Amino acid sequence: MSVSERLAAIAAIGRDDARGGYSRHLLEPADLRLREWFRSTAQDLGLSVEVDGNGNLWAWWGEDRTGAVATGSHLDSVPGGGAYDGPLGVVSAFEAVAILRAEGWSPARPVVVCAFAEEEGSRFGMPCLGSRLMVGEIEPAEALRRADRDGTTLEQAWREAGLAVSSLGPDAGRLAALDVFVELHVEQGRDLEDRGLPLAVSSSILAHGRWRLSVHGEGNHAGSTPMAGRRDPVVAAAAAILAVRQVALERPAARGTVGRVSVTPNGTNVIASRVDAWLDIRGGSDAQVREQLDVTLELIRARVADEGCRLEVEEESFSSLVAFDEPLTRRVASTLGDLPAIPTGAGHDAGVLSAYLPCAMIFVRNPTGVSHAPEEAARDEDCEAGARALAAVLRELAGTPVR
Ligand code: GLV
Ligand code: MN
Ligand code: MN
Repeated sequence: MSVSERLAAIAAIGRDDARGGYSRHLLEPADLRLREWFRSTAQDLGLSVEVDGNGNLWAWWGEDRTGAVATGSHLDSVPGGGAYDGPLGVVSAFEAVAILRAEGWSPARPVVVCAFAEEEGSRFGMPCLGSRLMVGEIEPAEALRRADRDGTTLEQAWREAGLAVSSLGPDAGRLAALDVFVELHVEQGRDLEDRGLPLAVSSSILAHGRWRLSVHGEGNHAGSTPMAGRRDPVVAAAAAILAVRQVALERPAARGTVGRVSVTPNGTNVIASRVDAWLDIRGGSDAQVREQLDVTLELIRARVADEGCRLEVEEESFSSLVAFDEPLTRRVASTLGDLPAIPTGAGHDAGVLSAYLPCAMIFVRNPTGVSHAPEEAARDEDCEAGARALAAVLRELAGTPVR
């Protein structure tokens, strides 16, 4: 098989008919089908599959469970996301195993293909939920309380999927079993296209925080309420969103985005009573993100007060700046003929895990440069080159000691 054929096998799962692209959210039907696909693909390759207590999937090559070389990514998507963000890394990991098996090569240390749960945070609001739970960066009780857009809690979703709520939480044994993690991913910008190169390694990930802004106003009748004296949270939220952009534009390389808004009760002839808006800020250091947040919130508070509304702010997640392990990254880059190392603004499970073990990433060229959208792209020949590169990296890392 090839990467393209493996991607074709899951191409019908979780299509988003409204936006195009894919909406594959944790433990919803599409995700459950992808989990089944993971299991059967792994079994076809002779790997033994397990689901850990945090809903992450593992497919082991080799009996031993220590000193493993892990590779993989995630299968969930953002709402209306592309076909490659996540699945390319999982599919390429399986293809790399298939390439190595076809060569008759077998690893001196275990190789494990993994798919982390809810990397995007699209259903329960916490990016890299599965890897964060595994390393103990979120309290299980806090995770279980989180609710999706329909009010279903993680606890309910977990039970409905037949998973054990009591198993959620830090998994020190598993973490200790991993010596190194290499995540292959579609590039989420145009750097490689502009350089005319199919592959790169990653040097770093921007610091990143997400906040929920709740603006409370006074619901009323759109016709009988005079314009003067309204306390309209939609107007306040609109001003707040403009402030987010203004502050980000004033800072080099900063990002500030509101990509999700929820209006209550959301009626055409109703002045809303509440607006929730989700703020995503990214920057070149943790301090830079915090400073940008402070300045943004100061402006937002003033604009919300001007409208006679009230603001509540809740931090949903914070991910510190990641600098990938240099020796490992150099080793991966030189195994592949001296690939360049490029930074990224997108979050990854490799970023979470890099605080605990050496991690590296391989990026595959994206000709559109678009991601988190149906237009995300990767050429077939680049995907195959990515799987061959990953096979070479596994041959290198799983054939000799890593550290
Ligand atoms: C995930 O891809 C993110 O960067 O938000
Ligand atoms: Mn991803
Ligand atoms: Mn993503």
